[in-house]
Amino acid sequence: MSTQKPVRKAVFPVAGLGTRFLPATKAVPKEMLTVVDRPVIQYVVDEAREAGVEHFVFVTGRNKSVIEDHFDLQVELNDTLRKRGKTVEIRQLEELQPKPGQASFTRQQAPLGLGHAVWCARDIIGDEPFALLLPDMIMQSPKSCLSSMVELHSKTGGNVLGVEECKPEDTHKYGIIDRGDKVGNGFIINDMVEKPPQGSAPSNLYLNGRYILQPKIFDILEHQKSGAGGEIQLTDAMLRLAETEDFYGFHFKGRTFDCGSKEGFIAANVAFSLWRPDMADNVRHEIEKLLSEVKPFERRQSDRREQ
Ligand code: G1P
Repeated sequence: MSTQKPVRKAVFPVAGLGTRFLPATKAVPKEMLTVVDRPVIQYVVDEAREAGVEHFVFVTGRNKSVIEDHFDLQVELNDTLRKRGKTVEIRQLEELQPKPGQASFTRQQAPLGLGHAVWCARDIIGDEPFALLLPDMIMQSPKSCLSSMVELHSKTGGNVLGVEECKPEDTHKYGIIDRGDKVGNGFIINDMVEKPPQGSAPSNLYLNGRYILQPKIFDILEHQKSGAGGEIQLTDAMLRLAETEDFYGFHFKGRTFDCGSKEGFIAANVAFSLWRPDMADNVRHEIEKLLSEVKPFERRQSDRREQ
C-alpha cells in the first residue's frame, strides 16, 4: 500500500477511422455518432468527470476537429438560447463544457496502434498517474466503472485495469488477464496477453477499456515494438511495466456496450433511452410494437430488387 498522487487527468484516444461505420463516418467521427441525444464521446468524458478527473486529453487525428468544437463554448448558440429563454438547454451545454484550460488536444499523426496513441499524450500528462478511457465502450451502472477503479487505486496505488467476462469463444478479440488474489474491491493481476489465439487464453476476463496507469508506461511505450495485428500494443507495454510495478483488476459488473460494433451501438441507444424518464415508456412501447410486427429478415421491396 502506498500514498498515491490522485488521478486528475484522463486520456481519450479518438484518432480511429471508424471504418466499420462507413458511410456514416465518412465526414463525422465515430465518436460523434449519437446515443439518444449526445455523442458517444460525451458519455465517456462524463464518466471521467464523475470519477474526479479535471483535465481531459484527446488524442485526435485528421477530420476530428468537430470533437474539439463539441467541447468548446459556442458563444452564438448560447446567446440565441438565452434570448429564447431556453434555460434547460443552456444548463445542459454548460454541464458538458470543460472549464477553460481543462481540455487538451494532440494528434496521433499515423495509426500505429493504441500504445502509440497513449504515448502521444505523454507531455500533457507529465509525471502523474492518469486514467485512459477507450471511447468505444460506454457503460451503465449506479456507480461508474472508473469511479470504482479510482477508489481501488486510492488504496492500492500502482496500476488498475477494468475487466469484464466475455464468452470464451471471444477471448481472441481482447486483452485477457489472469486473475490473482483479492485486494479491497479488486484483485491482483498475475498476467495479461493481447488477443490470445483461440483456446490459449488464461481466462475469459477481458480488458474493458478503462485503465489507471502510472506515467512510467510512457518510457516503455517510447521503445515498444509492434505486436498483435502489427500495431504498438498497450497491453505489451503494460506487461513490461508489470515487471516493476503492481497491477490490480476491478471486475465491473454493470452493462457495457461496444459502440465500435453496430449491434453494440444500437443496443446502447435502446438501453440509454430506456434509462431516460422522459422517454422510457414511449421507447418501450415502440420496441414491443416492432418486435411483434417485424419478422426476421423482412426486407423492403426496394432492398430486394437491389440484391
Ligand atoms: C483494445 C485493447 C484490448 C481491449 C479492447 C477493449 O483493443 O487493445 O486489450 O480489450 O480495446 O475494447 P481494440 O478494440 O482496439 O482491438
